[in-house]
Amino acid sequence: MSPAEFDRYFHDRASRFAAFYRSEALSRLIGRGPLFDRLRGSVDIVTALHATHVLDVGCGSGPLFAPLAEGGVRVTGLDPAPAMVALAQVEAQRHPGMVTVQDRGWEAIEETDAYDVAVALGVFDYVDEPAVLLEAMGRAAPHVVASFPAPGLRLRLRQVRYGARGVHVHGYRADDLHRLAQRSGLVALELRPLGRAGYLAHFARPGG
Ligand SMILES: C[S@@+](CC[C@H](N)C(=O)[O-])C[C@H]1O[C@@H](n2cnc3c(N)ncnc32)[C@H](O)[C@@H]1O
Repeated sequence: MSPAEFDRYFHDRASRFAAFYRSEALSRLIGRGPLFDRLRGSVDIVTALHATHVLDVGCGSGPLFAPLAEGGVRVTGLDPAPAMVALAQVEAQRHPGMVTVQDRGWEAIEETDAYDVAVALGVFDYVDEPAVLLEAMGRAAPHVVASFPAPGLRLRLRQVRYGARGVHVHGYRADDLHRLAQRSGLVALELRPLGRAGYLAHFARPGG
């Protein structure tokens, strides 16, 4: 899948995807609870690390902005889908001076040690070369937090649904995540299960 198909998919569905965050109770009812679990898990890790600046890769409509900015953490959000960037900019305005939104994809991450933590929620699902992205995030920040879907029926159903629109979805077992970390020059410090939805992984540089 080309990165353009992934961007396009979320550009077309930005409002629909952002709507899942309007009501946690409703989202849980329709099986979207892990969206909230991965947000909370990321905020917990960022807080435990006393981070002051976070890179949010594929920030979408910006559901991470409020919990981080309200805790005093600055956020730089990246997303290449114009409709997502527009929603993220509206959300960023609610946190003056704390959030910057940039219209670019992860392929353009060139920073080194510019952040304390790089986060990617719901992004590795669609990335065909995950080690390249993880390596770029690990250069940009000493800690990386990212969600990964697990193989299984839930993933197969998503593969059919998204595949019909040219978007590939990838699944990861715990072993895959340890191997991926190694290929990217990182170690997996923690793999938090997200139920059937997979893992929230915390990676760091070895010995860091
Ligand atoms: C499933 S959404 C997740 C959004 C947000 N992180 C969240 O948890 O709600 C995936 C996001 O990745 C973005 N995306 C698509 N291509 C990308 C790329 N090349 N680099 C970074 N993000 C990308 C999409 O536009 C979309 O906003």
